[in-house]
Amino acid sequence: MSEIYNIIDKQKLDIVSKPISEAHGLPNECYISKEYTLIERKKLFEDKWIVIGVGSSIPDEGDVKPIDLLGIPLLIVRTKNKEIKVFHNICSHRGVKLVKEAGKIRNVMRCSYHSWSYDLEGKLVATPHIGGMNIHQIPEFDKSKSNLKEIRSYIWLDLIMININKNEISFEDYISPLSQRWEKFWPLKDRELIHHANDYGYFKLDAKCNWKFAIENYCESYHLPWVHPGLNSYSKLEDHYHIQGLPNRFAGQGTVVYNPSFEGNEKFPCFPNWPKDKENIAEYVALFPNVMLGIHKDHYYAYWLEPINHEFTIEHMEIYYVGDEAANSTKYKSLRQKNHKQWEDIQKEDVDIIQSMQIGRNSPAYNGGNFSLKMDNPTHHFHKWVAGNLI
Ligand code: FES
Ligand SMILES: [Fe+2]
Repeated sequence: MSEIYNIIDKQKLDIVSKPISEAHGLPNECYISKEYTLIERKKLFEDKWIVIGVGSSIPDEGDVKPIDLLGIPLLIVRTKNKEIKVFHNICSHRGVKLVKEAGKIRNVMRCSYHSWSYDLEGKLVATPHIGGMNIHQIPEFDKSKSNLKEIRSYIWLDLIMININKNEISFEDYISPLSQRWEKFWPLKDRELIHHANDYGYFKLDAKCNWKFAIENYCESYHLPWVHPGLNSYSKLEDHYHIQGLPNRFAGQGTVVYNPSFEGNEKFPCFPNWPKDKENIAEYVALFPNVMLGIHKDHYYAYWLEPINHEFTIEHMEIYYVGDEAANSTKYKSLRQKNHKQWEDIQKEDVDIIQSMQIGRNSPAYNGGNFSLKMDNPTHHFHKWVAGNLI
């Protein structure tokens, strides 16, 4: 019997994966229980490919960035040869968290407790006084066995993907269904042109709720008329279609009327191989568990989630344009500012609503809720992914 059943009734979990007409959503425990979250951390965050940041945030050699994922201390490093590596952020001596703040390392990462030091490749290079006063190495201790523990990683669309337990299939295979879906309008050679904007390319929002609400909400367009009346005025509910990836790893929605118009009628340059007959298509796909992607003919964004605990999540928005000029020149600056503001306003509207769902999950009267047979299919798809992977 799986350990999840000590926390959640088997019946309550089984019903999630029934056909949508009979299903209920994930039970309240999945949003309010700390004990449940420990199982989720292992099954959904350690066993799967997840996102922990973007390469653009550590552009230069020696840049380091710690991140704690539901309490697991991790460390992202840009090495001397400009590669990105991810390590467990703990000193191999007494287990102190090694790097506490993002910054630049000139030579070594030095532990604050007894000064053991590691180079940018994670190699343990100094163990002061390990053999007694002024004896810094001893034959009984083989330093090479106590390097930082590296985590399997892969960079895709600037996203730093990791698989902590090294048990998933290769990332290339994992992402292939989504990658192939996009090939018909966003071919691989265009994806290489993405540039992160340095000025208006990032914002973050605090969401006082479980991380799953952000994903569920992103999967559906049903809420558009009421939560985003501004957006709905030009991209209406009826212009959207559902996306449910198979094998079940992603879900979301697309629109057929993406045609941005900002004051002054300025436009960003478009991806050169995005076909003309598909230029009004934009897709919003959540790649489970923790990143929401938006692709358009003239920009791409990745909105990734940093779950802090079962009821608090930090949302990070990273915005990219086609080529460096669109991303960083003054020519497009005011347009970037407007686009940034537009997304920030929309995401804030969503944060308000998902925080209310968190409050609702404290009600003993709630049974996971009912899905609309026509509108909630991608959300149900995500719930099935969660329920199926917990066992
Ligand atoms: S715990 Fe890091 S040097 Fe002792
Ligand atoms: Fe929304």
